[in-house]
Amino acid sequence: MCGIVGYIGKSQAAPILLDGLSKLEYRGYDSAGIAVYDGEHIRVQKSVGRLKALSELTHDGATMPGTAGIGHTRWATHGAPSNENAHPHFNRDETIAVVHNGIIENYLKMKKYLAGKEYHFASDTDTEVVAHLLDYYYKGDPIEAITKVMHRVEGSYALGIMFREHPGIVYAVRKDSPLIVGHGKDGNLIASDVPAVLKYTRNVYFIQNEEIAVLSEDSISFYNVDGEEIQKESSAIDWDINAAEKAGYEHFMLKEMYEQPKTVRDTLNPRIRDGAVVIEELGMTDEEISRIEKIHIVACGSAYHTGVTAKYVFEGMARIPVEADLASEFRYRNPILRENDLVIIISQSGETADSLAALREAKRKGVQTLGIVNVVGSSIAREADKVMYTWAGPEIAVATTKAYSAQLVAEYLLAVKFAQVRGEITEAEAASYLKDLQKLPEQIEMLLSNKERIQHFANRYISARDVFFVGRGIDYAISMEGSLKLKEISYIHSEAYAAGELKHGTISLIEEGTLVAAVLTQEELYKKTISNIVELTSRGAFVLAVTNTGNTQIEKAADYVIYIPQTNRWFTNSLAIIPLQLFSYYVSVGRGCDVDKPRNLAKSVTVE
Ligand code: AGP
Repeated sequence: MCGIVGYIGKSQAAPILLDGLSKLEYRGYDSAGIAVYDGEHIRVQKSVGRLKALSELTHDGATMPGTAGIGHTRWATHGAPSNENAHPHFNRDETIAVVHNGIIENYLKMKKYLAGKEYHFASDTDTEVVAHLLDYYYKGDPIEAITKVMHRVEGSYALGIMFREHPGIVYAVRKDSPLIVGHGKDGNLIASDVPAVLKYTRNVYFIQNEEIAVLSEDSISFYNVDGEEIQKESSAIDWDINAAEKAGYEHFMLKEMYEQPKTVRDTLNPRIRDGAVVIEELGMTDEEISRIEKIHIVACGSAYHTGVTAKYVFEGMARIPVEADLASEFRYRNPILRENDLVIIISQSGETADSLAALREAKRKGVQTLGIVNVVGSSIAREADKVMYTWAGPEIAVATTKAYSAQLVAEYLLAVKFAQVRGEITEAEAASYLKDLQKLPEQIEMLLSNKERIQHFANRYISARDVFFVGRGIDYAISMEGSLKLKEISYIHSEAYAAGELKHGTISLIEEGTLVAAVLTQEELYKKTISNIVELTSRGAFVLAVTNTGNTQIEKAADYVIYIPQTNRWFTNSLAIIPLQLFSYYVSVGRGCDVDKPRNLAKSVTVE
């Protein structure tokens, strides 16, 4: 939820810390702070609000000289956004500074313990106990103190730590919160995510759970929880640096929407060969695929919505029973998982706490797990038995678009593969599905190029109070995502409803002029949904319909129609979601909202 960075090297640390934090601000943005060793003391500056306030306060870092430091951008969990609660946090004599991402679950117990030893707390945070515990255990050897703290604290953490007595070193440690080390030419860095270090290096180490990294200006070493040195291999990051920048677009969300054709292409193409699906990383034999009795798709938010779509596709095309589950529910309901089941965890970040916990629950029960993940080397990617990457590149806007689209096509590919292996579709049918899939990028491009029509429509609804999204089957799954997109970035109340359910309660909310977005991409359900639209318009609703080209009967029922190109009925989500994304985006812009960093949210939800 928060972002951390650290730097030690030949250059001034503060500007590098601020620059790194600016790439991590998507992770949290209610306050920020940096600590820099000035040759004598560790000096800290913090500021409530966006990073810009901290940059102004420190004159872009110029008022904080020194070549070693750590920084933090916060998304409040324990304690309101305030200077006191912003990181870094100090021990009592300000000789140890700590930045933290994650949650120390037993912090109240630790706080009580430390209070009994005359430690006083200046903040409401769970992080401060780490600073005091380090102080308590520190007897001259930082590694010893860090490992002792690791044995005492429960929960998740990525920590950046500085000791005044060891000014030439930055320490880092993680458990269940992401952390990488960058090996730069003029110095070394730590960060919660790769974009923060890309400007300085492409050579990174992924720190694993319960590993400690020790960085000096010209060396990096690693230790395990027993304080023993371990060897690690670095990885080369081949992302285009522009991929993490706005490249002339007004917002990351807009840029990422426009990247969807490429993302879909990159996720599909390497896995389609000679008219067949080849997913090498799946590592499952045809026999294993045929044995699957049930698939559980587990995820959060938009990733879950792709799972709901995939449920229809797997069941319809491959005739495999599928349960789509919210990870936060799955992990605590003691799910029934059988030997021949497959659990698919979907996650852009690969770090979502509930999804990771659900993965571990599935593994604990001995079931095969597959991660569909965007961030290479992330926790879910590492821990799942198999991983299939969505090649969307870095997604910065909190509201997902391109990762969502990539997840969808990854799931379609799996469905085609499973359907063919299990004899539910012929080779020729599979080839025809793949042809349709390969047309998607161009069709998405076409929809994006018609953005003006949606922009114009969105401008009329920037003051809407409520918006409803309705559809049946896959169209209901699309509605769920359309609704989430709108509410998260525009703060307009919206709900997604299965169209047939409306008259069981929700229709009472329809008033004169209420906007309803109806999705109709499933031909066999047109008539049913059109009847629901009539029920809505006769109660005053204004209906925007998103439907397939050719469904002209809709024009009699709906007030405004957006047509999407023809594709196979299983793949319509990939197209119908585009106008809904654009609609949300332009409503948000029209309302003057912070599109890329909506209030109260963070990109990567690494807490429960
Ligand atoms: C959607 O726009 C949100 N940002 C959110 O629902 C997101 O999809 C969810 O938190 C899951 O994240 P993940 O894919 O990184 O696991």
